[in-house]
Amino acid sequence: MAKFIPEHIISEIQNSIDIVDVISEVVILKKAGKNYFGLCPFHADKDPSFSVSPEKRIFHCFGCGTGGNVFTFLMKFNGYSFPEAARILAVRCGVRVPEQSLTPAQKRLIDEKTRFFKINTMAADFFHQSLLNGVPGKNAITYLNRRGFSEDIVTRFKIGFAPEGWDNLLSFFYSKKIPLNSVEMAGLAVVRKKGSGYYDRFRNRIMFPIANIAGNIIGFGGRVTDDSLPKYLNTPETPVYNKRRSLYGIDAAKTKCRANETVLIVEGYLDFLALYQAGSENVVATLGTALTDEHVRMLRGCIGEKGKAILVYDSDLAGIKAAQRSIAVFDRGHMDARILVLPAGHDPDSYIRKHGRDSFMRGADKAKNIIDFLTDMAVRQHGLSIEGKLRILDDMIGPLAAIGDINKKSLYRKELAERLDIDESAILHKVRDHDKKKNDTRPWVPGNDAMMSASNGSCSYAENETETAKAKFERRLIAMMLQFPDIIPEIETRRLPDFFENSRLKALGYSILKHYADSDGHVAKLIGQLKDKRVHAIATSLAIEEQSWSYEGCLKLIDQFESGIKHHERILLRKIKEAETKGDDVNLIQLLAEKQKYARNKAKKQNCVRRR
Ligand code: GTP
Ligand code: MN
Repeated sequence: MAKFIPEHIISEIQNSIDIVDVISEVVILKKAGKNYFGLCPFHADKDPSFSVSPEKRIFHCFGCGTGGNVFTFLMKFNGYSFPEAARILAVRCGVRVPEQSLTPAQKRLIDEKTRFFKINTMAADFFHQSLLNGVPGKNAITYLNRRGFSEDIVTRFKIGFAPEGWDNLLSFFYSKKIPLNSVEMAGLAVVRKKGSGYYDRFRNRIMFPIANIAGNIIGFGGRVTDDSLPKYLNTPETPVYNKRRSLYGIDAAKTKCRANETVLIVEGYLDFLALYQAGSENVVATLGTALTDEHVRMLRGCIGEKGKAILVYDSDLAGIKAAQRSIAVFDRGHMDARILVLPAGHDPDSYIRKHGRDSFMRGADKAKNIIDFLTDMAVRQHGLSIEGKLRILDDMIGPLAAIGDINKKSLYRKELAERLDIDESAILHKVRDHDKKKNDTRPWVPGNDAMMSASNGSCSYAENETETAKAKFERRLIAMMLQFPDIIPEIETRRLPDFFENSRLKALGYSILKHYADSDGHVAKLIGQLKDKRVHAIATSLAIEEQSWSYEGCLKLIDQFESGIKHHERILLRKIKEAETKGDDVNLIQLLAEKQKYARNKAKKQNCVRRR
């Protein structure tokens, strides 16, 4: 990875950047001892198992095993390549990355995403200018003003206008010498079906640039200014735009979400803008898609473990459907979620304009949790006759079954039983039946836990039960090397990794020795160089531990390990004798091979001591 950018530059970035600073932008961190803790942004984390060590400049999640240095964090969180992450950090800490050292092919690779960001930014500027300057743009402004949006908000979110016509944007890019196939790949142009060339995807629409959490423009939403259809057109999936991972306004909202420990989730661009303009800046909009696990994870990173989400819907029916779908998503993400349904005929935008933000916020404060909301709706729909109660029960089984947390599930079950004045065991039976069926067929709620846990790339970094006592010892030695580098010369002299039986720990041991032999040896840098995913995970998990080592303590541990080896050797010799007397040749060959290995390791070690 360091081939793209010179090693000393990487070190310079590594040494001047504050990893806590970088991660704090997207995860709420609290200090405990030397380290910081927060909710892991890489898996649905219930308790803060994600830790960051400013001193070692690494992070590690004890829940899913994800870890690394500041570069790794940006790569995993934003999907950046290493050079991208390095460049972003370089800008941040004022280190200059020399461009000349890149070959054209390398440069192309590095620049792909940056290029899409740039094309999108250019397009956003083009649309924004044509909103401010052109005649059709004036009409669009009039439309926005009529709907109550100020100039400030138009500027803040760089709202724009895509003029009528087939090639306005394409001509603009042509004049800027941007290859048109890149414009097409960014989702801004479409390949002509007949003939050759492209045409503008967005025409005669008000344009809303969509940014990622870091503020890069990744796509657009375009709204017609009349009743024509489709009302909205969005950027298709591109290398930088994925609607499952995108939330309109997340970059502008993240600070306030953190401060308020609450996020409002609305459905539309204009709902977002209306709330933001009215002063509720802790708001995001899903973009014509149901809430996803990725959305929840991202939001949890912003609002923190105690934070809550309030889903805002503009009709009972849409609200019920969304509420049903979202139970499992919120449950998997361990997110406290409420739902606010606005009176018929209103969406957040129109409600605020009519009744004001205070009224809206009072409603939001009183927002019900999702199960209570669904129960209310069912009661309202079916009434509390015996027939009605049975129907309510039917309606509520799915939502109850979607809750994975056993305690929560039982609380809601009790609540429902009380409310309907029926026996709790009746509900219990029904939920069990449902769960059984659910295991055979697909659940009624979307989402798949198995897939989730596979996709977050969890590695077995923790001590597992099958690990032998010897491997456990080896693990302690590696932890010692990572946490107390003063001991490394001693380890080097005694060639300890030669005697390791666990191949990953052995490889890691060698990497550490090599690293400390030929560089300044900062642990974050070492971790950046470990290619094997599992070895990498082991290293971060051990490095981030806070143990106090003393030189004497370390020597003791090393001595123990060595006497363990000697003990093993003695046993080996005894077994060899036994096999010889018994004439057990098969066993004997194996034992002799093992003995040879020991002898080799010892010889290596003696050479090493002699060299010193
Ligand atoms: P206004 O009607 O102008 O207030 O806009 P709105 O954002 O309130 O629209 P609406 O409530 O109809 O839709 C909510 C969100 O769903 C929009 O902001 C879009 O993200 C999405 N959406 C609505 N209609 C369409 C459509 O025709 N196509 C696509 N792709 N998305 C749509
Ligand atoms: Mn609306």
